[in-house]
Amino acid sequence: MSDMTLNSPALLEGLSEAAIILDGGQVVAANAAARELLGESIDGAALHEVVSHPAALAALESASEAAEDVELTGLGGSRRHWLMRSAVLPGGAWLIRFVDRSEARAAEQMRVDFVANASHELRTPLSTLIGYTETLREQADEIEPATRERFLSVVHDEARRMQRVVEDLISLSRIEAEKFTAPTEAIDLEPLIEQAAGSAGRMAEERSSAIVRRVEANLPPIAADRGQILQLLDNLIANALRYGEAGTPVTVAAQAAGPMVHLSVADEGEGIAPEHIARVTERFYRVDTSRSRSLGGTGLGLSIVKHIVERHRGRLSIDSEVGVGTTIHVLVPVAVS
Ligand SMILES: Nc1ncnc2c1ncn2[C@@H]1O[C@H](COP(=O)(O)OP(=O)(O)OP(=O)(O)O)[C@@H](O)[C@H]1O
Ligand SMILES: [Mg+2]
Repeated sequence: MSDMTLNSPALLEGLSEAAIILDGGQVVAANAAARELLGESIDGAALHEVVSHPAALAALESASEAAEDVELTGLGGSRRHWLMRSAVLPGGAWLIRFVDRSEARAAEQMRVDFVANASHELRTPLSTLIGYTETLREQADEIEPATRERFLSVVHDEARRMQRVVEDLISLSRIEAEKFTAPTEAIDLEPLIEQAAGSAGRMAEERSSAIVRRVEANLPPIAADRGQILQLLDNLIANALRYGEAGTPVTVAAQAAGPMVHLSVADEGEGIAPEHIARVTERFYRVDTSRSRSLGGTGLGLSIVKHIVERHRGRLSIDSEVGVGTTIHVLVPVAVS
């Protein structure tokens, strides 16, 4: 056994990833992360007892120097992904490290899904547009004026839908681009709540819902981006009106909570079932797609809200009971004076 391997326990513990040393085909050292991943009793085990992954074994058996990196799936849980990296140490032992790629993989998967979803969201209205404009052109002489009007209004509505999706996507990418710089401007929340309630006024009237404001007196200003907080309020109030029951109030409240300001938007309505709560902030996720779509929704509202809260170093939580209603809580830091 080389000196290198003798000192290996201390060396291995210094590595952030799971690591083992193999000598003569047996595990001679392992760090705590490796024991957690591969089992407590790996000392002295043969490689195939530790990693029962054909690609990994093949890579190590065939290589005399450094083997190629091998992607391992399912080790330590079905959704985990690892990159197995190996290097030959002086003296002939192998240093094998397992780099956790789970998060990177999940992020990659999310990007792939996102592109697929965005394309799908745009393709549907686009097909309608093409279908209707073709009919309008090809049968121009036969179409009654009333029918033409109806077709044109479908065309217009679908074009508007595409515009909303594209605007929300642009919004999202702008917010994401700024995520590393927290806003610092001191902003009074109350006038923004008034402004948002004002812009939602017509929608509230149509649904006979009052937008009740409960803002604590002397609320401290928040460290915020005015436009983004307004966008957050617009989205939450629109959701509360859209998914709350007609005739019931929507309550927007704000009070100081230590170093944060606690903002909440509550409705009385259908609520969100527990299994959907964690997912409604995902891009394009809707509990009832066709219903949201018919109400003009794109499914991006809450993911925009989530990104805005994250950029503000705040916290978002959803409290909901099916058939009773939903309260969205947002904590935003108080501005430092
Ligand atoms: N207050 C609420 N009560 C019940 N369900 C809600 C509420 N807010 C959101 N949801 C559910 O979460 C889903 C996602 O909300 P989100 O705001 O992201 O999208 P949307 O409202 O469908 O479309 P838009 O992009 O126009 O906001 C909604 O489709 C709805 O199913
Ligand atoms: Mg919404």
